[in-house]
Amino acid sequence: MSVVQSIKLHLGCGTNKLPGWVNIDSVAGCQPDRVLDLMQPLPYADQSVDEILAEDLLEHFDKYMRYVVFGEWARVLKVGGKINLQVPNFKKILFRYFKFGFDNFVDFIFGENMWRSEIYIGHFGNHKWGYSEENLKAFVSQFGIETLSVEAKGLNLRLFGEKRRHVPIEEIDNFEIHSHANATGQGRATLPLRFVRERIKQFQNDIEKHEAPIAKRPVPS
Ligand SMILES: C[S@@+](CC[C@H](N)C(=O)[O-])C[C@H]1O[C@@H](n2cnc3c(N)ncnc32)[C@H](O)[C@@H]1O
Repeated sequence: MSVVQSIKLHLGCGTNKLPGWVNIDSVAGCQPDRVLDLMQPLPYADQSVDEILAEDLLEHFDKYMRYVVFGEWARVLKVGGKINLQVPNFKKILFRYFKFGFDNFVDFIFGENMWRSEIYIGHFGNHKWGYSEENLKAFVSQFGIETLSVEAKGLNLRLFGEKRRHVPIEEIDNFEIHSHANATGQGRATLPLRFVRERIKQFQNDIEKHEAPIAKRPVPS
C-alpha cells in the first residue's frame, strides 16, 4: 500500500534547512533543496501542498509583487492547509529609532544582504514592504486564509493561518491595489491586480533577456 506523503514547503529557507520540508531559496549559495525564484510561478499544482512556512520572507516582495507571490502560495495550498508566516513588526521597528539610533533602525527597515555574515544574497536581502498585525491579517484574508493567531515576539510578528477557501485567479485579478503616491501624482488611485500582473511579467521578460534566470544558474558544488 502506498503512503501519500504530505508536501511541506519551507520558502526562503536561507541556510536554515529543516528536515521533512522542501527547503526553497533563490540563492544557490544557501544550498536549499530547490533553487527557485519565488517571483516566478511555483512548480506545484493547485491545492497540492499541505503546509507552508515562510520566515522573514514576505517583506522581501514589494507592494505589488507580494500579491503575485503570495497568490502562488495560496494557489498551491490545499483547503485546510496551514500557513506559518514571520515578518518584521514594522510599527515596533519604527520605535527602534528612538531606542537604538539611526544606524540600527535603517538596518532593520531595509534588511540584511550579507546573510549570517558570509553569504551575499544581493537584492534578495532587501526589505521592500512593511507589515502591521492588522494589514498582515487583511492581506492574507483576501486569498482565503483565515488567521488563527498572531504572536508579537521581539521585533517580529508570526501569523498562523489556515486556508478556508480556494480563491480563483479571476477573483484575485480583480483586487484593486491602492496607491497614495500615484493618486497624488499623475496616476490612478487604484490598479487592478490583472494590470499589475501584466506589467510585472513585462518587466521580468525584459530582465530575462539580459541575465540567466536563477533556476538555470549552476549550483556550486
Ligand atoms: C532574511 S532571510 C531569511 C532566511 C530564513 N528563512 C531564516 O529565517 O533563517 C530571507 C531569505 O529569503 C530569500 N529570498 C528573498 N527573495 C527571494 C525570492 N524571490 N525567491 C526565493 N527566495 C528569496 C533570501 O535569499 C534569503 O535566504
